[in-house]
Amino acid sequence: MVIIKTKEEIEKMRKVGKLAAQLLKYVEPFVKEGVSTLYLNDLCEEYTQKNGAVSAPLNYHGFPKSICTSINNVVCHGIPSEDEILRDGDIVNVDVTVLLDGFHGDTSATFLVGNVPEEVKNLVLRTENALYRGINEIAPGKYLYEVGRAIEKYISKFGYSIVRDYGGHGIGRDFHEEPYVHHHYTREDAIRLRPGMIFTVEPMINMGNSYEVATSAEDGWTVTTRDGSRSAQFEHTVLVTDRGVEILTKL
Ligand code: MF3
Ligand code: CO
Ligand code: CO
Repeated sequence: MVIIKTKEEIEKMRKVGKLAAQLLKYVEPFVKEGVSTLYLNDLCEEYTQKNGAVSAPLNYHGFPKSICTSINNVVCHGIPSEDEILRDGDIVNVDVTVLLDGFHGDTSATFLVGNVPEEVKNLVLRTENALYRGINEIAPGKYLYEVGRAIEKYISKFGYSIVRDYGGHGIGRDFHEEPYVHHHYTREDAIRLRPGMIFTVEPMINMGNSYEVATSAEDGWTVTTRDGSRSAQFEHTVLVTDRGVEILTKL
């Protein structure tokens, strides 16, 4: 069942969404060649605590850190580490989720480190475009599958692939709630959107022609592309309003 949030709950989701957006903006200038992903993690943890919030990923189903950092061929759920140093030409997705006053806000962006090849820059740009194409479909009375349909229509032109094993999700008191949000077109998402629904849109786009991914046997978390191609992702938490959509994780 998809939860319809009350006015009071929506106000709290606005607050936590804003904090998540501020956190991502705060860490962005530190995403530079030579820094470790653990350093980014620790900065985020500190900022979150100072703002009276909690890092939702920490201990979530045993996840060991406060944020996810996913470099190059890592699709999602990369674990920050002292030994993982950002290099010139890398792309890295930083995914932050904060818990404030009982509610979650979830957002991510892929950042460029130094000189990134033009074709990889294009992947990142187009992945962000795809996120907004999807979000722009959202309005009360429309079907949720319009989100995936718009993303697929846009992305298919480039020969990229849309990851299928992970999707967006309802969000609120729980980190992950119903509905599941596919980023490709499927009638499984034949859910009518109603004002007060809150969910994420977070397409993961692989540069290669395969959407197949694998999870690390070693750490149980890190998801990589099977073909080794690079993967980008952007994420927002959004609210269905009476008139359309409101991005809660935008500054
Ligand atoms: N932030 C991710 C999402 O967008 C989920 C991370 S789960 C974790 O849904 F355990 F890896 F943190
Ligand atoms: Co996220
Ligand atoms: Co999410």
